[in-house]
Amino acid sequence: MTPFVKTIIPLTLLILVGSVVYFLWHIGNNVGYAPTQPIPFSHKLHAGNLDIPCQYCHTGVDKSRVASVPSMQTCMNCHSLVKADSPHIQKMKTLIEKGDSFEWIRVHDMPDFVYFNHRRHIAKGVACEKCHGDVKSMPVITQKVNLTMGYCVECHRENKASVQCNTCHN
Ligand code: HEC
Ligand code: HEC
Ligand code: HEC
Ligand code: HEC
Ligand code: HEC
Repeated sequence: MTPFVKTIIPLTLLILVGSVVYFLWHIGNNVGYAPTQPIPFSHKLHAGNLDIPCQYCHTGVDKSRVASVPSMQTCMNCHSLVKADSPHIQKMKTLIEKGDSFEWIRVHDMPDFVYFNHRRHIAKGVACEKCHGDVKSMPVITQKVNLTMGYCVECHRENKASVQCNTCHN
């Protein structure tokens, strides 16, 4: 082996091991994640300034596991009249007419081996802000809370909710 190869192999290994350790350490830590959405929908404007209730759009949040994201039809309840000439509203209108749609980019996302249920938390009066931050002040939805196992279990302990493994992992 040439001296070059002798240094490059351990160096590559070091970088590989380093990356794996870094990755594992940061699992679930998506704090700061704020993807650019297909339409620049602002919670600050709609949920903050206009004070539209969260449930108006997230209809599932107190009824099922998932909060759900509204269809374009919900937006058009207002926007068939409000700002109808905005290019973003026009984009939705055209899609609806073509029978097409688009997907919002997911921000908060649990791994598949975790069971989470909105309804149970809302029923116990746990506020959205506890897990999602101050959404009403966000022009762009940003993950604010590090939704790790430690975070879930800590609040369960404080509230005498179950901390048995099979509560969150089947
Ligand atoms: C007028 C409709 C509307 C209202 C009102 C609304 N939202 Fe949303 N919400 C959306 C849409 C559309 C998305 C998906 C696009 C995005 O992430 O900005 C979304 C996304 C979210 C997400 C991120 C979902 C993910 O992928 O992780 C959270 C959290 C959220 N909303 C919380 C709230 C809370 C809390 C309130 C009330 C304070 C609220 N929303 C009010 C329409 C609404
Ligand atoms: C106890 C923590 C917690 C509370 C309280 C909470 N959420 Fe969530 N939310 C989550 C987690 C965790 C996810 C990701 C779920 C997944 O990936 O399966 C999520 C996902 C979402 C999503 C994405 C779509 C979906 O249903 O997965 C929306 C929208 C949302 N939450 C809105 C809300 C609103 C509105 C409230 C208050 C009425 C709220 N959440 C309260 C933890 C919480
Ligand atoms: C309850 C009524 C209502 C609903 C429902 C609603 N909006 Fe709005 N939206 C408004 C109002 C009011 C404004 C501000 C108009 C202004 O600036 O004069 C606005 C502004 C906007 C703008 C900025 C338009 C521009 O070009 O300035 C966008 C984009 C937008 N909304 C997207 C959405 C989307 C996407 C949804 C559905 C998830 C939605 N809205 C649901 C009332 C609503
Ligand atoms: C801020 C406090 C708080 C946080 C954070 C929290 N929980 Fe909970 N959770 C509760 C409470 C309180 C209950 C008990 C509800 C009841 O007794 O009905 C509960 C109940 C549950 C249940 C039982 C629901 C059922 O259907 O039996 C599951 C599953 C659960 N939480 C998962 C999670 C996960 C996963 C996370 C982290 C992403 C989390 N929780 C974060 C307070 C919290
Ligand atoms: C209140 C909910 C909750 C309870 C109770 C819970 N977990 Fe978890 N667990 C989670 C969440 C959420 C994650 C994912 C965290 C992340 O992505 O950062 C997780 C992740 C894990 C992981 C993967 C770790 C990793 O970083 O890859 C293992 C292993 C695990 N849990 C084992 C357990 C065991 C064993 C118990 C019982 C002693 C338990 N969990 C109880 C919520 C819970």
